[in-house]
Amino acid sequence: MNNKHYYIMTFGCQMNEHDSEIMAGMLENMGYAETEKRAEADVIVINTCSIRDNADKRFFGSLGQLKRLKTENPDKIVAVCGCMMQQQHIIDSIKMKYSWVDIVFGTHNIHLLPELVNQVINERQKIIDVWDEHQGVFEGLPSKRKYDFKALVNITYGCNNFCTYCIVPYTRGRERSRKPEDILSEVKELAASGVKEVMLLGQNVNSYGIADGFDMDFADLIYAINDIEGIERIRFMTSHPKDLSDKLIGAYRDCEKLANHIHLPVQSGSSRILKLMNRKYTREDYLEIIRKLREVTGNTIAVTTDIIVGFPGETEEDFQETLSLLEEVKYDSAFTFLYSVRKGTPAEKFENQIPEEIKHERFNRMREILDGGMADNNKKYEGRTVKVLVEGSSKTNIKTLTGRTESMKIVNFAGSRDLIGKIVDVKIIEGKTYSLVGEVI
Ligand code: 5AD
Ligand code: SF4
Repeated sequence: MNNKHYYIMTFGCQMNEHDSEIMAGMLENMGYAETEKRAEADVIVINTCSIRDNADKRFFGSLGQLKRLKTENPDKIVAVCGCMMQQQHIIDSIKMKYSWVDIVFGTHNIHLLPELVNQVINERQKIIDVWDEHQGVFEGLPSKRKYDFKALVNITYGCNNFCTYCIVPYTRGRERSRKPEDILSEVKELAASGVKEVMLLGQNVNSYGIADGFDMDFADLIYAINDIEGIERIRFMTSHPKDLSDKLIGAYRDCEKLANHIHLPVQSGSSRILKLMNRKYTREDYLEIIRKLREVTGNTIAVTTDIIVGFPGETEEDFQETLSLLEEVKYDSAFTFLYSVRKGTPAEKFENQIPEEIKHERFNRMREILDGGMADNNKKYEGRTVKVLVEGSSKTNIKTLTGRTESMKIVNFAGSRDLIGKIVDVKIIEGKTYSLVGEVI
């Protein structure tokens, strides 16, 4: 009987989700079992994100709520980690206002969690152990995956791009890649354990192996994974347009397992703003990549993106260029963000910060165009049969199954729970703005 429990709360991107899966794996190896109830947990970990200001606020809100639990049971261990902890001003706030937190650690030393927990148990001392940088990568850490049939696989860590708005190069350090043989053996093991879909993760997967001088680049890695038996779908996230090679575009033609989808953050449709953002491509370069991807896939590839509205100095003309790019590309989906000032980034010091009301007003105009494009794209699915990896029951109706197409679209349909984890053919009956409705055939 297991009576020690852990609870992990995760904010942010898929890298953080995967870090949390690794921390869960390590805690299980220590004999802890997962619980959904914070009150019951002996160890609570909060894995934080600092990409935008609202992520910071949500973290401090959640931490505040834990104080009562910690007061009622001082033996409970509260640990905080992730991107926010790589910033000194955050550590200072925790020391001042949340001194009851037991462990503070960072993105470079999650592998130390078991040691840190044992140290607190044995010595009853608070620990702050945040590393500034770590050169290598850790291999062989356990992982408790959220799904049996799909898995997140890190291929690179960190980022060297220094987009002027972004905090990630400061919180995740310099870019480093895992060795191809380590990635391929992990994917083979995953395939042997029944995993059908892998999502290759990195801040910029397109520069995989370059800084480390590997013989294999990102496209080579896709070709190699395409040959692994048992894997049926390959996805990746995130791709930087400046490093997207023609060789990778060719992989969409040659690798049948590569999902017919690309997430390609554009950030802005104005070349002037892209320059200020230090993105190192122009609007025309970006549109040329989309043209080539559409050509090689017979105009079938689904394209999704990230867009920031209200970057310092963005004029109405710049914004109009973003709107016209959206009309031109007709994205299948987009994550849209209000620019958020991040301490320590170059854009923090830029003049002409855009007032909040203008940001909101532009944001709403942009969403309207995006939603219109998404609804049109989804209507085109009506009558077509698509392959869906069934992920579970729908959130709103337990009797309905939900899954994703290769193009990442959510499909809801009636069916037996035995189908979960399988790839099935579904005929689409209705294309809504954010999802599709279908029936198994
Ligand atoms: N403000 C708003 N959005 C941001 N992103 C990154 N930094 C910021 C910021 N300071 C967005 C970018 C990126 C996505 C993960 O988050 O669009 O692609
Ligand atoms: Fe941030 Fe740019 Fe690196 Fe993406 S590529 S993590 S936006 S600095």
